[in-house]
Amino acid sequence: MKTKLLLSTLLLSIFAISGFSHGTEKHDNNEKKVVQKKEPSVNDNSEKSLEIKKALKEKETVLQNKYKKINEEYLENIKPIFEAKCFNCHSSTTNYPFYYKIPGVKNMIDKDIKEAKKHIDFSKDFLFISHETPINDLKSLNKIGQKGGMPPLRYIVAHWDSKLSKKDKESMIEWTKNAIELLGEK
Ligand code: HEC
Repeated sequence: MKTKLLLSTLLLSIFAISGFSHGTEKHDNNEKKVVQKKEPSVNDNSEKSLEIKKALKEKETVLQNKYKKINEEYLENIKPIFEAKCFNCHSSTTNYPFYYKIPGVKNMIDKDIKEAKKHIDFSKDFLFISHETPINDLKSLNKIGQKGGMPPLRYIVAHWDSKLSKKDKESMIEWTKNAIELLGEK
């Protein structure tokens, strides 16, 4: 009994030691790998990585400038349309209609606004708050300009003056077309 115990302790120790040393060996290898990987990364100050950093920064600036330009056109030509016809659902400035207080209606409107803002929120101008990419937002808005669909019909019924006019739609198509082209997509 005693020898068995001694033997298994011995075996366990051997396993432990060999396991340990093996582990250290591996660890060493890993460290070597990490060091090797680090060399071409952007985190050091080698000439190459500085170049990469500079290029990335330039690209970012170009993109930001494009967004700025798109927003300028938005503010001038599109925002007034959206304020009149979309902001009640897609922004933090909702003018509740008089019938909001009618039981049942409140729930429906609240749900609409919540759902609408989840998709796209115009409160902060372009870039819009959205779970989509800017380019996809522009494409959705282009589609609405071409095919309609917003505001929802039930809303137009209640607000006869909220329908997008032909001119509104043309402005939306023009703005989104320019923006999509500027961002280099079709
Ligand atoms: C009565 C509230 C309401 C108004 C007003 C409204 N929307 Fe919406 N909008 C919604 C809701 C609800 C959704 C999400 C579900 C859906 O697509 O019907 C939505 C979704 C969207 C989406 C994302 C989905 C898609 O179609 O690609 C866009 C973009 C959009 N609306 C644009 C607009 C624009 C532009 C206007 C103004 C011309 C507008 N909406 C007016 C309620 C509204």
